[in-house]
Amino acid sequence: MIPLTIKENIILTGFMGTGKTTVGRLLAGLLNYSFVDTDDLIEARYGRSIAQIFAESGEAAFRQMERDIAQGLAEQEGLVIATGGRLMLDPTNVKALGQNGRVFCLVATPEEIVARLARDNSRERPLLSAPDPGQRILELLQKRNHKYQQFTQVTTDGQKAIDIAHYLAELLQVIQNDETPATKNI
Ligand code: S3P
Repeated sequence: MIPLTIKENIILTGFMGTGKTTVGRLLAGLLNYSFVDTDDLIEARYGRSIAQIFAESGEAAFRQMERDIAQGLAEQEGLVIATGGRLMLDPTNVKALGQNGRVFCLVATPEEIVARLARDNSRERPLLSAPDPGQRILELLQKRNHKYQQFTQVTTDGQKAIDIAHYLAELLQVIQNDETPATKNI
């Protein structure tokens, strides 16, 4: 893998369970970038789990924390950033992170998302603590899908995380080659 010379951040967005954290960590390894996950940063900075923040301070407070974290990350470079599922649906965050970052949206079918989230107990997801989480996922997807579509879509169904990471790394090479002006041999 030829190292990327552009050091803008790579931002992964997409619904919960689309693989942002797993793919992001692998991609950072391939590119020799640092990996960060915005939910982890929030938990570390505020010393509470996401579920506690939602329960004790409410969703609006959590969304403000996301904005503060996004602002800080926008000032750095050479990062792969896995964002919480709604972070990049906030135009303030798109403006901040978009200045110095390239955004990819990981996509999966609702069935795949439901199955993956049922297997994933790494973190509690307060928005899904409903009597019927499957139904809640469908409702949220319906509300959000058109907003995710503003970003380059990367389908993840039936794919291994490492293959998606390789695909993105290669895509970034192609983008870099297209954007780097050719030097002329005189
Ligand atoms: C959320 C997604 C979660 C986390 C929070 C809210 C959302 O992150 O930020 O529970 O609104 O989609 P993941 O997408 O990493 O699960």
